[in-house]
Amino acid sequence: MPKKKSKAMNTQEFLSNSGGDSRDRIARLVSKKGKERISMLTCYDYTFARILDETGIDILLVGDSLANVVLGMERTKEISFREMFQHTKAVARACKNSLVIADMPYVCYQKNRRKALYFAQKFIEEAGADGVKIEWFKYCTEVVRTLIKHNIPVMGHIGLTPQTVGKRSKFRVQGKDSLSAFNLVDHAKVLEEIGIFSVVLECIPAQLAQLISAHLNIPTIGIGAGPSCDGQVLVLYDILGLYKKITPRFIKVYHDLGALIEGTVKSFISEVKEGRFPQEKHSFFMSEEELRQLEKKYKNFKF
Ligand code: KIV
Repeated sequence: MPKKKSKAMNTQEFLSNSGGDSRDRIARLVSKKGKERISMLTCYDYTFARILDETGIDILLVGDSLANVVLGMERTKEISFREMFQHTKAVARACKNSLVIADMPYVCYQKNRRKALYFAQKFIEEAGADGVKIEWFKYCTEVVRTLIKHNIPVMGHIGLTPQTVGKRSKFRVQGKDSLSAFNLVDHAKVLEEIGIFSVVLECIPAQLAQLISAHLNIPTIGIGAGPSCDGQVLVLYDILGLYKKITPRFIKVYHDLGALIEGTVKSFISEVKEGRFPQEKHSFFMSEEELRQLEKKYKNFKF
């Protein structure tokens, strides 16, 4: 991390700093504040990204929840840069419309903060993300300042920050008392001053999210933060009923695809066992002439 702190750039200065597709899309997103609510879902692969990109969703977040819901890890901090990079690349490959944001995994900036810029540039320049998201932690402002100075669009993330949540403090609502609420307002304001384009508010009281949203010029995107945020985000596997290991109350299961998948696989198993699949329409056939040649060679075999 450079020792000398650079002058902070606000969001407007940052967005007008250089052109480019991502910059335009981010500027359009920021301009939705107060006019249109923003929709964001996590997405981790090419096939889902193709479907989601056609729906009009504003943002696809390649969240580090990938660690839990796709890779079966206990903590998001276990995920590597390589894993996040591969999945970001797959999502970006499919996206023509939605903004693609890559979650910076813990290893990219916690243990070795100097490398944050290197990894963030890889997400943007090689994986094709439009921006990165960084969860709040002790040296968060230094890292965010460095990225923004190098023209990397950054989305903040405050409140419950799973990468650094202590074993004892667990996954609980943050900012319930006025002192911690003041702190969270401060975090949001500081990050906005540095130049982030948006901020995720995770698991905080609805009133606090309302206060933060009213005090920022950039959009807030809530998850478990009530209805007054400028946008909402949920984990794709949660709304589809695919990941049922943890079910916090802010989740809404829109369709139980888990049950649908189970039923589908059971049908496949019974059709295979009973010889009902595949049928003629699923098979390829040789011509009579070629079959006669085979019969000549394998004399005891009849088709
Ligand atoms: O990784 C993730 O899914 C997230 C969302 C909860 C915002 O960071």
